Parts: sequence; structure tokens; C-alpha cells
Amino acid sequence: MWMMKAIGQCRVKEESLKNLATLTVVAWLSLTPALAQDVTPEPPLDVNAAKVELGKRLFYDVRLSGDTTLSCASCHQPENAFTDGEALSAAYTGAAHFRNTPTLANSGFRDAWMHDGRLGTNLNDVVREMITETYLMNMDMRVMQERLKQDPLYVEMFAAAGMGEPSNGGARSALMEFMKTIQSRNTPFDAGAMSAAARRGQAIFEGKGNCSSCHTGTRFTDDRPHNTGVPNNPDIWSDPERHSAFVTYAKFMGIENYMNIREDLGAYIRTHRDETKRSFLTPTLRELKWTAPYMHNGVFATLEEVIDFYDAGGGEDSLKDSRLRPLGLIPSEKADLIAFLESLSGDTFDIDAYVWRNDDFDYELIEDWRNTEN
Ligand code: HEC
Ligand code: HEC
Repeated sequence: MWMMKAIGQCRVKEESLKNLATLTVVAWLSLTPALAQDVTPEPPLDVNAAKVELGKRLFYDVRLSGDTTLSCASCHQPENAFTDGEALSAAYTGAAHFRNTPTLANSGFRDAWMHDGRLGTNLNDVVREMITETYLMNMDMRVMQERLKQDPLYVEMFAAAGMGEPSNGGARSALMEFMKTIQSRNTPFDAGAMSAAARRGQAIFEGKGNCSSCHTGTRFTDDRPHNTGVPNNPDIWSDPERHSAFVTYAKFMGIENYMNIREDLGAYIRTHRDETKRSFLTPTLRELKWTAPYMHNGVFATLEEVIDFYDAGGGEDSLKDSRLRPLGLIPSEKADLIAFLESLSGDTFDIDAYVWRNDDFDYELIEDWRNTEN
């Protein structure tokens, strides 16, 4: 274990030598998505290191949003396992979001994305939506491409990644490549270092709690929608900016009566079948330590609140999944369940492998630009 730590520290030290002559070593190290010594839930995905590095820079670049106020990292912050600590997400200038920002940890392994699962092909579609949606980054892809071409470092980085000159397809592909490297590392669960309380909690999770019937597999999700009766978040309807973003979304998704509905219909928006109303994709249970508040609309601030919710048999909804029943947990059982959930959180993502630390997103002024060739 200490060996692992020692190697980690050595790496940090070396990265801070960036200005010295060790550039090649450092470049190699910072291009390595995860150290071989890290314990990860799945073997790391195959990635192209130069493309990952490009994706990492793009992820932190505010020039990917229309008015240059937001980058992906404004909402997906590395220190919060790529969430933002808010119940409901921020959004583009003049708007506010109606959903909680999901973690990006292990999201390269998902089958479907977004709380309602409306994107199910690949991460590329998700990235396109994040960049172009009016209430998210509100960016025109053609303008984005022009901006990227004006940055000499991007010109170099696209070429190094084997993608020719900066293009918007290449940018999406690189962002996707970067996200594939965002993996849980060294959780007590994976490292075989769970406390006795966590082990007791695991038995409740798999037994009496019946949690593992939906939270399955290495990411603890079946990637499917279920109705658990999570209460509405009233802020979506009382805040005009959130409401207008919601209306934009509901209208685009073909919801009748979109001006008047006062609930998030979840997966219904893609099936249009009544029995799927208010069902949401099972989220991963990894990295919960960093990702409060919880649920698609952030209505629960703590894991204690989430466990009380399940102990009561979930919320009130005529379409609620029949697996949710009152559990009758005693306080020590609740504490054990929480200890188990906490054992699924690993090391911070606020490390050089995941963060572009240089604030180099401004253009240099071109003297005498009229007479300077492109
Ligand atoms: C203004 C805040 C904001 C910005 C900026 C933003 N996101 Fe998101 N992201 C969200 C929210 C909110 C959701 C969930 C939306 C939903 O369920 O409808 C989301 C969902 C996602 C998902 C799906 C995760 C999952 O497990 O379902 C991915 C992947 C993602 N974003 C990547 C990105 C990338 C890459 C960028 C930059 C190009 C970006 N996001 C910019 C707020 C943001
Ligand atoms: C019927 C399927 C199902 C069962 C059984 C179930 N869950 Fe969930 N769980 C979900 C869904 C779906 C959500 C997301 C609901 C939403 O966003 O509105 C969720 C959300 C959560 C969250 C919040 C995660 C986050 O990032 O927001 C936690 C924690 C959680 N469940 C733990 C448990 C525990 C512990 C149990 C057992 C006591 C359990 N779940 C049983 C389907 C289930």
C-alpha cells in the first residue's frame, strides 16, 4: 500500500518539475491515464494518450461555450468527482438547469446517459448535446472550430493526436477519449480494505435491503430506469430560469402540454409510455463521498437522508417499483449501510492526470493583424 503512495508522490513531484529539462518524462507521465499500481474496478479502457491530453485541455477551456463563461469543468469539477455540489446544476448565462450534475467517474462504461437515459449510443452524442444545447454551453460547432484553429497549441495538439487540423468532430472525439480515462481508483471495496461496519453493510445491501437488485455490477447500476418515488424539487417550477430550461427540453422531447406540467417525467420522454413516468436511470453508487446532493434533482443533501428514504420504502408514487418496501432498519444497520456506500469511494480526481492546470485559454494579440498572414 505505501509503495503505491510513494509512487504517487514521486509522480506529483516530477510533474511539478515541468519547467525543467525533464519534459519528456513528464509528458509521458501526464499522458498515462492511470498508474498500473492503482486498483480500478475494471481494466482501464484502451485510449490514445495524445488524444486524451487534447481532450483534457478542451474539458477545461471556456472557449467551448458561446459567451466563454463555461467549460465542462464549471459543472463537472474534478474535486467533486466531476459534479458541482449543487442540488440543481448551473447553466448557460440567463438560464439555470433542472437536473443534478452526474459524476463522470466510470461513465465511459455506461450503456446509456443522462438521468432519463435519452442518449444511448455513445459518449459522442452526450458531448455534442453538452456543447450545443442552448441552456448548457450554447455553442455553434462552426464557431468552435474557428476558435480552436486560432489557438496554436490546439493546432499542434490535434496534429499530435493524428487528427489533422482542429475540427469539431475531432474535439468531441478527444473529449470522449479523456472521459474514458476517468475511473475510480483505490476504493476500500476494490482494494479489499473494507471496515467491519462496511462488510456488515454489504450484507444488508445484498440481503434485507434488496439494493443490489437495481444497483448491480462493478458500477452498482443496471443502467435502467426505475420509479423510486423521489419527490419533486419545487425550485424547478418556482425559478423562472430553471422552468424555462425545462420547458425548452420538454418541448423538444415532444411532451404534450409542456407549458403546464409540473413534474419531471424522466424516461417517459423517450418511451411516451405511461408506465415509465417519473422513472430515472439507476445512478452509480461509486464516489458518493464526493457527489452530494443526491438523486436526479438533488433533493437529498446527505446519505443519511437517502437511507431514511429507502427505509420508508421509497417515496409516494402510484407507479413506484414494487421492490421498494419499508425495511425497518435499526440505527446501527443504517450506519453500516452508509459505511458500505462510503467504501465505494476512492481517491480524489483532483490530480494532474485529470486536470489541465495551465490557464492558457486566451489568445495572444496579433500585432498588425491586417498584414499578418494566417
Ligand atoms: C452547465 C453545466 C454543465 C456543463 C457546462 C456541462 N455539463 Fe455535462 N451534464 C450536466 C448535467 C446537468 C447533466 C445531466 C443532464 C440530464 O440528465 O438531462 C450532464 C450530463 C453529462 C454526461 C452524462 C453522464 C451520465 O452518467 O449520464 C456527460 C458524459 C457529460 N455531461 C459530459 C460533459 C462534457 C464533456 C462537457 C463539456 C463539453 C459537459 N458535460 C458540460 C451539466 C453540465
Ligand atoms: C428498484 C430499483 C432500486 C432499488 C431496489 C434501490 N435503488 Fe437506489 N436508486 C435507484 C434509482 C432509479 C435511483 C435514482 C433516482 C432518481 O434520480 O430520482 C437511485 C438512487 C440511489 C442513490 C443516490 C445516488 C446519487 O448519486 O444520486 C443512492 C445512494 C441509492 N440509490 C442507494 C440505494 C440503497 C442503499 C438501496 C437499498 C436500500 C437502493 N438504492 C435500492 C434504484 C434503486
